[in-house]
Amino acid sequence: MASGIPSLLFCLLLAAPHLGSSYHTNGGKHFVVRSSDSRSPSTCSPVPGDGGRLPVMHRLSPCAPASGAGAGSGQSMPSISDALRLRALFGDSGDYKKSGVTIPSIGTPLQSLPGASEYHVTVGYGTPVQRLAVGFDTATVGATLLRCEPCAGSRCGKKHLFDPSRSSSLAQIPCGSRNCPLSDCSGPSCTATLKKKGAVVLNATFVTDTLTVSRSVAVDDFRFVCLETRGASTEGRSSGVLDLSRDPHSLASRVVLSPDTVAFSYCLPSAFPYSAGFLSFGATRPNIVSYATLKSKASHPNLYFLRLVGVSVGAVDIPVPPQALAGDALMELHTTFTYLQPKVYAALRDQFRGWMGQYPVAPPYGELDTCYNFTGQSSVGVPAVELTFEGGAGLEPGVQQTMYFKDRGNIFSVGCLAFAPVPPHARGITVIGSLAQATTEVVYDLRGGKVGFVTKSCL
Ligand SMILES: *[C@@H]1O[C@H](CO)[C@@H](O)[C@H](O)[C@H]1NC(C)=O
Ligand SMILES: *[C@@H]1O[C@H](CO)[C@@H](O)[C@H](O)[C@H]1NC(C)=O
Repeated sequence: MASGIPSLLFCLLLAAPHLGSSYHTNGGKHFVVRSSDSRSPSTCSPVPGDGGRLPVMHRLSPCAPASGAGAGSGQSMPSISDALRLRALFGDSGDYKKSGVTIPSIGTPLQSLPGASEYHVTVGYGTPVQRLAVGFDTATVGATLLRCEPCAGSRCGKKHLFDPSRSSSLAQIPCGSRNCPLSDCSGPSCTATLKKKGAVVLNATFVTDTLTVSRSVAVDDFRFVCLETRGASTEGRSSGVLDLSRDPHSLASRVVLSPDTVAFSYCLPSAFPYSAGFLSFGATRPNIVSYATLKSKASHPNLYFLRLVGVSVGAVDIPVPPQALAGDALMELHTTFTYLQPKVYAALRDQFRGWMGQYPVAPPYGELDTCYNFTGQSSVGVPAVELTFEGGAGLEPGVQQTMYFKDRGNIFSVGCLAFAPVPPHARGITVIGSLAQATTEVVYDLRGGKVGFVTKSCL
């Protein structure tokens, strides 16, 4: 590559407008002490995207590459989108089938995908590279999606579109070839169309091109779906979704590994206050003491499951017998909260409430039924919640990952335990949501069949 990747400036909002606080942990409890109530000015400063690590931004961060003005518009209640996502993953996807186009593997409607991602990275497609901000997903997509030219209509957001005609390395996949997963394409290319009221509103074409992730990682002949739409969705700030699932065509599967490297790892940034997380591919295996064993589920072969074997609150195991507690746990990036088996959730909640008796109770927030009003407190102590997985690894979220604060970033407000019972259609599954994972590096050692956690990797 002649020019290399132009180095974009990524922004990190160093000091978000939140109350100054200090943190410490003692006797199974995380403490947050109010240290100042002066509001710091918000500033963005560049974070270098070094060879290995791509900066990851939360969708709502004003510094996110895909953000732009009005990023706050997506502030809806997370449990509503969680419910939709869990239905897409585990429910009956009848609605989607009716609409005509589904991506192979698990049925997610094409039209609902790009732009919906919580976390974004910027990668380069084609030759010369066209840099575009995209979301990433470890579940459900089954294909990498990218919004492409041509876009029929006026509100297309051209600078967020990939232009296949400007790439010298792009190749069409012929309909009927082994690389084309569509059984119903017609014509020369591997294209599916979505029609509404007789008119084509979306063309989805499987193509291959070079994907440049960083200076050190580029994947040739990477398969993805070019989406041509009529008009743009209003969420057009993100150009697509990178597939990190276990599908053989996913980026996770295409990373070249050596015995001492891992496929990928991410650290989801805290959204409030804003921080910069990272996503890396083919990095050297970190020094982690215990890993969780990666499980496969025949019903969902592309998803990453671990086996939950323990839950503790304040360093004491919840009173649920091991056989009632243990179960498949999905690592999920597009579900905000963590969903447990109803009995396990009830035991966790009861223990948690036992530790929180000194704080005034606040009304439930959606499905979150354990809320407290910390307004006016000078310090807040929250018991440490830890989830342990087969293999020995434990995930221990911090205060702002254990509780969800409506006034995000402000602990001295109303906060709710960010766990809930899993909905009936996903019975039997535990879903480890993005909030619980945030600020912890999650390492996917796919060659070793294991997942590791490194706490406080991106604060
Ligand atoms: C889909 O492809 C056809 C044929 O190339 C084209 O005429 C049509 O405008 C495309 N539709 C959209 C929504 O891009
Ligand atoms: C929280 O407590 C403060 C001070 O006591 C009060 O003004 C506020 O209305 C309470 N908020 C909720 C949601 O209960």
